[in-house]
Amino acid sequence: MSDVLIHTTAAGIATVTINRAEHRNAFTMATVEALAETFSDLGARTAVRAVVLTGAGRAFSAGGDLNWMRGVLQDPDGIGREGAGRISRLLEEIDQMPCPVIARVNGAAFGGGFGLICAADIAIASTDASFGLSEVRLGIVPGSISPFVLRRLGPAAARAFCLTGAALDTGTALRAGLVHRTVAPDDLDHAVDEVLAAILQSSPVAIATSKRLMREMSAAPQQDWAGLGLDAIAAAWKTEDAREARMAFLEKRKPAFQ
Ligand code: ACO
Repeated sequence: MSDVLIHTTAAGIATVTINRAEHRNAFTMATVEALAETFSDLGARTAVRAVVLTGAGRAFSAGGDLNWMRGVLQDPDGIGREGAGRISRLLEEIDQMPCPVIARVNGAAFGGGFGLICAADIAIASTDASFGLSEVRLGIVPGSISPFVLRRLGPAAARAFCLTGAALDTGTALRAGLVHRTVAPDDLDHAVDEVLAAILQSSPVAIATSKRLMREMSAAPQQDWAGLGLDAIAAAWKTEDAREARMAFLEKRKPAFQ
């Protein structure tokens, strides 16, 4: 059975499911590679309008597979470094997706699973989910995921969660900005569908450009932000989608984006 399941709809919604339910979707290097390839492939397909990332069964993802980590302990500079590099690559692939990535957090998300949420654009969690940066409890540190954790939570919350390794409930995750909405377990799919419906009403080109702009601004010195924003809006005004959206508004119809 494959570690990663992919389902794509005619509307261009791809659902990527980590499929190791009996291990609470903890990932081995094979899982990480399969996920990275999946995102790389989906990112190259212009027909894909959004990706939903979720876990099979009760958990979202229990992070690094502790059985795999046994090998790392014997070869930290080899297997350990290589594995951490692969997790970094996966998070980069998710971050660089041109379309929105929605984490559908159906249950526990620990360690690397917490990192996957931070790399996604939008996270919706079931109220029975739990979260934790549990690395320090295992004598290790959140290495590969830290850039994304810091970006999502800011240094204060990142430190507080990382230094205790304690499990967090959905209320804490929501207040910290780790997830954007929490809903009862039975309402999870409906809440994700609401987000997808909003995405499908918008211009894919404008979404991709907005996402790239936010990424570029985050990496640039603050004095460059205004210039990057002006260049992006000037280019956006020239697109067919901008023209079509304005006409559609005036003609009281839905826009037909390219
Ligand atoms: N690696 C390998 N197997 C795991 C992992 C993991 N990270 N997490 C859970 N499992 C396995 C358990 O060993 C167990 O297997 P078994 O049925 O053969 O005994 C099975 O999944 C079910 O685990 P439970 O603990 O019984 O499931 P529960 O739903 O009660 O709890 C939870 C889920 C909260 C995720 C819990 O399993 C847990 O805390 N796991 C460890 C989380 C963690 O610290 N991850 C590592 C972070 S460090 C990093 O990512 C680099």
